[in-house]
Amino acid sequence: MWLLLFIGLLLLAAYYLLVLRYPSFALDISPVRKAVFVTGAASGIGKTLCHKLIKEGAFVFACDLNEEGLKKEYENVPEESIKLIQLDVSKLEQIEKAAKTIKDTLTEAHHHGFVSTEKLFGVVNCAGVPALSKSALVEKTDQEMQTIFEVNVYGVARCTKALYPLMPHDCTGCIVNIASVCGEVALPYFSYYNASKFAVIGYTDTLRRELFDRIRVTCVEPGFTATPMVAFADELTKKQVQKSDFIDEMEVLRVKIFDRWIGSYLQTPVSVADALFSCLFSSNSPRHVMVDNILKRIMWTSSRWNWLLDNVLYFYVRSIKK
Ligand SMILES: NC(=O)c1ccc[n+]([C@@H]2O[C@H](COP(=O)([O-])OP(=O)(O)OC[C@H]3O[C@@H](n4cnc5c(N)ncnc54)[C@H](O)[C@@H]3O)[C@@H](O)[C@H]2O)c1
Repeated sequence: MWLLLFIGLLLLAAYYLLVLRYPSFALDISPVRKAVFVTGAASGIGKTLCHKLIKEGAFVFACDLNEEGLKKEYENVPEESIKLIQLDVSKLEQIEKAAKTIKDTLTEAHHHGFVSTEKLFGVVNCAGVPALSKSALVEKTDQEMQTIFEVNVYGVARCTKALYPLMPHDCTGCIVNIASVCGEVALPYFSYYNASKFAVIGYTDTLRRELFDRIRVTCVEPGFTATPMVAFADELTKKQVQKSDFIDEMEVLRVKIFDRWIGSYLQTPVSVADALFSCLFSSNSPRHVMVDNILKRIMWTSSRWNWLLDNVLYFYVRSIKK
């Protein structure tokens, strides 16, 4: 009887530690004069993160498709804190050109004392596009499928690959990829967006398990956040007229999800940017961070088991290397 009670208490304690407890970031790495690359920097979450990085003393490579947006957003930021780069993450040649610019800028910025080393400390892949039209998956065009994957998936993988050689390989640097709660739970009519975010989580988990002794890798999964992306997706769902067999179902869902539910629970981009910042500058940054007021208590369970799986796999990879 006492033994059973003891085991029960042990299990409860393990459940609390492994599942319920939220990550506590050490925040023990100084952001001052660290160089960080951020895509999607002209708007929403990316923009909020860049301003926080600059305020905390980092040097930012702010990249976005929208050059005008970049210039307007950062017109008052001094050159010792920022380098603006117009970059379409769906174009490989532009990514390679940007990597070259970043390498040269790091050398120059180090020479002027704007950055502490010639290495790129952080890579934050934030650029993304939402579902692009009002229709169900079976009605989507090839073009739409390609556009979403080119930006949300291949853009992340190509930027990471191009910038990996510029990063320190001693576990001080950090790569953070932005997925979504839609990469954990596939909501109907969110189109290939869901599939793209599942892919980002799979890509990031693989990267972390391969680079475990070189670079910290984290996947941040925001819930619905008040940025132009949500407004844009909502407007598309409301207005875009397209021949669809699913239009009535979608309308019901739109009213239920956007107007009644999500609209009243939207979190601010500041909470997501704060989580991204913590991941970058914490030596114990978690593998997955869900930033969502509603879902995280439920979903944290699935993310938490990655801790166990990672350690088993690290052990296995280490044993192969020996
Ligand atoms: N807003 C949300 O509710 C939410 C929820 C979960 C995940 N996310 C993810 O967070 C990230 C940022 O989203 P946001 O809400 O800040 O959106 P946003 O629309 O405010 O910002 C996205 C930025 O990405 C840029 N961009 C788009 N395509 C690009 C390309 N091909 N190359 C370079 N830049 C490009 C846009 O110009 C824009 O500045 C995205 O990956 C998104 O999927 C957002």
